[in-house]
Amino acid sequence: MSIIIRFQLVLLLTYFVVSLKLEDKSYNDLAKSHGLYGSDTKVIVLNVTNFKKSVYGTSNAWLVEFYNSWCGACQRFAPMWSNLAADVHDWRDVIKIAALDCADDDNNPFCREYEIMHYPSLRFFSANSKVGILGTEVEKGKTEEDIRHNLVHFLKKEQLEGRGSNWPNIIPYRSNDVLNLWKNVPESTRFAFLIFEEKESYLGTEVILDLHSIKNIQIRRVINENEALCKLMGVFTFPSLVVLERSQNVFPLKVEENSRVLFCKQIKSFLQEHKVLLPENIGNPIAYSSSTKSIVSTKQREHFENAVEQFGLVFQVDLENTIQYSLKSEIPVRKFISGHPLEALKKYLSVLVKYFPTYARGRMFLEKLKFKVQDLSTLKGQIFLEIVESLEAEMKPVFSNSDGWLGCKGSEKRYRGYPCGLWITFHTLTTNAVIENGNDPNFNSLEVLEAMLGYITHFFGCQECSRHFQEMAEKSMRQNVTSPEQSVLWLWSAHNMVNKRLVADLTEDPQHPKVQFPTEKACPACRGPDGRWITEQVLAYLKQMYSRHSIVHVGVMENQRVENVAKADTLHVQAKLIGTGMNYKIGMVDKKRLGWNFNIFDISLCVVLYAGSAVILILVFIKFIVRKRYRKKAYIHDLLGKV
Ligand SMILES: Cc1cc2nc3c(=O)[nH]c(=O)nc-3n(C[C@H](O)[C@H](O)[C@H](O)COP(=O)(O)OP(=O)(O)OC[C@H]3O[C@@H](n4cnc5c(N)ncnc54)[C@H](O)[C@@H]3O)c2cc1C
Ligand SMILES: *[C@@H]1O[C@H](CO)[C@@H](O)[C@H](O)[C@H]1NC(C)=O
Ligand SMILES: *[C@@H]1O[C@H](CO)[C@@H](O)[C@H](O)[C@H]1NC(C)=O
Repeated sequence: MSIIIRFQLVLLLTYFVVSLKLEDKSYNDLAKSHGLYGSDTKVIVLNVTNFKKSVYGTSNAWLVEFYNSWCGACQRFAPMWSNLAADVHDWRDVIKIAALDCADDDNNPFCREYEIMHYPSLRFFSANSKVGILGTEVEKGKTEEDIRHNLVHFLKKEQLEGRGSNWPNIIPYRSNDVLNLWKNVPESTRFAFLIFEEKESYLGTEVILDLHSIKNIQIRRVINENEALCKLMGVFTFPSLVVLERSQNVFPLKVEENSRVLFCKQIKSFLQEHKVLLPENIGNPIAYSSSTKSIVSTKQREHFENAVEQFGLVFQVDLENTIQYSLKSEIPVRKFISGHPLEALKKYLSVLVKYFPTYARGRMFLEKLKFKVQDLSTLKGQIFLEIVESLEAEMKPVFSNSDGWLGCKGSEKRYRGYPCGLWITFHTLTTNAVIENGNDPNFNSLEVLEAMLGYITHFFGCQECSRHFQEMAEKSMRQNVTSPEQSVLWLWSAHNMVNKRLVADLTEDPQHPKVQFPTEKACPACRGPDGRWITEQVLAYLKQMYSRHSIVHVGVMENQRVENVAKADTLHVQAKLIGTGMNYKIGMVDKKRLGWNFNIFDISLCVVLYAGSAVILILVFIKFIVRKRYRKKAYIHDLLGKV
């Protein structure tokens, strides 16, 4: 019976893999990201082909976000960036808001060239920049307003330094004679609005930029240091708004609140009263709205608890995707690697060689890579990539030409993927180090964790993750880890702390809620009656889950591994299923086969597949038995031979 159930699970897994295959994702597609900005935002999407053409030599400046579509901080930042782009859309002939995704492999060399060290990074490019200028880093701040203010700061500087001469004038009006206002402006200019404000205020500049497309008016800032003009106009509170006509009429305008929106509104209503034509939609920034919380219902949580994935299947394909991304994208994106980062890289390669579960070719590849890097004292990201690629070409095939993520597949593109892969990779490394060498008296319990910390510190593209992880490590890693087993448990516990922090976060995949791992259902023995962890049980669970021997090799093409294997058949994939924990896992598959979000079509296809293969099996069986029995009776043989 249990064989049939295993067969069923293998079939389900195989189906899962086949269905992914239909989507046809090779490593390149995997690394071809789909970005965080679609057609519903005002953010201009740049890439390696259009960046230089777009950004250099234009009369407007650019503010570009370099991001990474899988990075949680970038996902959280994206709505703010879209809001900003919508908010300053009226400024677009002065400043354009754009974004470029460094997670997209095509853009990767570009991000290396621009030395993007963390995501998201904001870079300001002046008007008429020349090719080769890498832009100036701009602070992200905490709110959209912070970025807008930083931006205003940059724009003011631009004009003071003589660029952006065709932009609206945002330099303060220094003269104390209002007659000078009418010099150098077109005859048709009827009104001049003066915004009196303090030197550091952003309001005036913002209003000028908001309304600069209205013809026949000018808006200027006057700072409170221009005391003569303040006195002349009777302005003693800041900010204040005053309108002048060419005919010398002066109208002080009262604004209820010192806000950009109300200043704009007041100016516009004044103009409407005076029959000045306004362009449509001017100065009405429509805030881009997006839901900023992922809503995970209790039902979804329950559903998830029942899903097969939660019962600890680790897929070889995911581990390989992870180190491929790490070696071919994440490490090479650094322009120069030396000092601490280079030391970290060497340690990382060294633990991969020791403990990364792979085949003979994979191991040889890793060993050669380690060997090539170990004596270098400085290295360029580009060179590292070339080493990786040439070794790969030399020893082909090294990695399965992967078909997307299996265990780390998110319900949408932006969820899970690489960060998930990195966690399971390091759990796999800590666990296998202990399983294989834990009894060695010279075993260094911190070896894998130190390598991980180094990698996360110097290479992991999610800066915020990196910072948090370093803090956790600083607090407890070296203190807590005093035995081999504790290295596995420390990482487990640290991961759970991250899970706890990310519950209900925007980056939480609704289909894969953050839980304290392993769940009650997955490991009933892991918690005592008071709900506290029983760490020996947790350890046993982790060892079982992440052991080299438990890893599921579904989706790894045998013909890429073993020479002289003529043709591997997908249905022939060897799934090494978890030994001891099999029973409850199978139970769950039986009861709740919908764990993977299969729809009715999927299920029926699966049933057909299953039934089909069952029928074939039965036929083969009958043929075999009957053949044996009636070997000598030619007429029956003939008959069955046609089946
Ligand atoms: C070092 C590191 C630090 C991170 N820090 C942050 C951060 O500060 N902020 C942020 O927004 N994102 C952070 N991330 C990303 C985040 O933790 C998740 O990886 C991401 O949100 C994808 O989540 P996921 O649902 O795929 O599950 P993940 O949390 O990625 O887990 C992957 C798989 O590991 C298994 N697992 C889960 N918990 C445990 C455990 N305790 N022990 C063993 N196995 C477990 C499960 O099978 C799970 O499916 C970090 C990632 C890494 C690698
Ligand atoms: C870059 O973007 C343009 C326009 O969106 C698109 O036509 C082009 O194919 C993209 N190039 C790459 C390499 O993705
Ligand atoms: C380290 O040990 C302390 C004390 O036992 C514990 O409270 C803490 O949770 C541990 N930290 C980690 C990350 O395991």
